Formats: sequence, C-alpha cells, structure tokens
Amino acid sequence: MRTTNLKKLDQMFVDRWSPRAFKKDPIPQEDMDTMFEAARWAPSSYNEQPWIFTYAIKENDLKKYTDVMAEFNQKWACTAPMLVLGFARKNFERNDIPNNWAEFDTGSAFMSLTLQAEKLGYRCHAMGGFDPDKALKAAGLDEKDVKPMVVIAIGKHGDIKTMSEDLQKKEVQSDRKPLDQIVFEGKIS
Ligand SMILES: Cc1cc2nc3c(=O)[nH]c(=O)nc-3n(C[C@H](O)[C@H](O)[C@H](O)COP(=O)(O)O)c2cc1C
Repeated sequence: MRTTNLKKLDQMFVDRWSPRAFKKDPIPQEDMDTMFEAARWAPSSYNEQPWIFTYAIKENDLKKYTDVMAEFNQKWACTAPMLVLGFARKNFERNDIPNNWAEFDTGSAFMSLTLQAEKLGYRCHAMGGFDPDKALKAAGLDEKDVKPMVVIAIGKHGDIKTMSEDLQKKEVQSDRKPLDQIVFEGKIS
C-alpha cells in the first residue's frame, strides 16, 4: 500500500506542465543564463556533462529553429520567445569511448533547466518531434559528435484564446500513472 504524503511533496513537481501558448515577451539574458546555470549543475556519468544547448531568441534564428520542428509542433511553438536545441555528446571526452549515459544525463539537465525556468515564472515544452539533421545544421554541430535530443520552447504562458480550438482543448495539465504501476519493491513478479 502506497502512502504518499502530498503535503510533503514539493508543489514545484506538480505545478510544472508543458503548455503550447506562449507570450512573445523576450526573456532577459539573466533569466536565460540562470536556467542554463541550473542545467549545468545536473549530475552526469563521470561528471562528463555531455549536454550541449544552443538557443534562438533573434527573429532570424527563431525562424531557423522553428523549421527544425515537425509541422504539428511548428503550429504552436513558433510563438515562443526562446527555442533551445539540446544535444548529447556521443563519446566521453576523457577517453573517446561511447558514453551510454549521455542521453540520460542530458534529460537530467533538461529537467533542472525546466524547474529553474518555472521558478522564474516561465514554462518549458520539450519536443521530440523534430528533424535531427536540421537540428544539427541549425546548431552547427556534427552527427559524429552529438545526438540531437530535444527542442524546447520556453516563455511565459500565453493567452490560449489565440490558439486553434484543437490546441485549446489540449492546453490542460496531463494526468499520471499511479505509483503502483511504475514503482516496485524487489522483483516485479
Ligand atoms: C522528450 C520529450 C518529447 C516530447 N515531444 C513532444 C512533441 O513533439 N510535441 C508535443 O506537443 N509535446 C511533446 N512533449 C510533451 C509531452 O507530451 C508532455 O511532457 C507530457 O504529455 C506530459 O505533460 P506535461 O509536461 O504537461 O506534464 C514531449 C516531452 C518530452 C519530455
């Protein structure tokens, strides 16, 4: 029998969600750097810090980054004032052998960035729907060095009335599986 104490659970985990409506307001450099600073402190295998983030805030770059996304993401994410591309370095820098934890570590860095963004009043929406080759090109990176992992739209939550009816219906927080479907003591069966 699970006994979560919701009073002890930090509200930041529950309050975070991924909206699709963003305000166009530019994000001050200090806030952007504070988000990346949080990502910087994420744990990683051998402390390799295998993540690389590139970002777009200028109109021309935002257009290029938007073009990286799948069409269904472009429809809403094009309104975000900041778009980030996240990459995982394929090999350990220490010995040039494949780093099998780089993707896991990059996910941790993404979550740190996201929670810091939330603390500053922004929302993040991760996207796996994008073209990896376009992401590499937009960031000026090489496939032999990194794996494109994610596009992240960041900004303050916008007015959902500016969105299509279809998207408006999706602008709600998602549910989660219960603990007893994802956590097991010892062996599953
Ligand atoms: C790695 C990753 C890829 C995702 N890809 C997309 C995507 O391509 N398009 C989209 O609209 N949402 C995408 N999402 C958002 C998820 O659908 C969302 O996080 C999930 O439904 C839980 O909702 P919440 O983040 O609002 O709690 C992605 C999230 C993650 C972490």
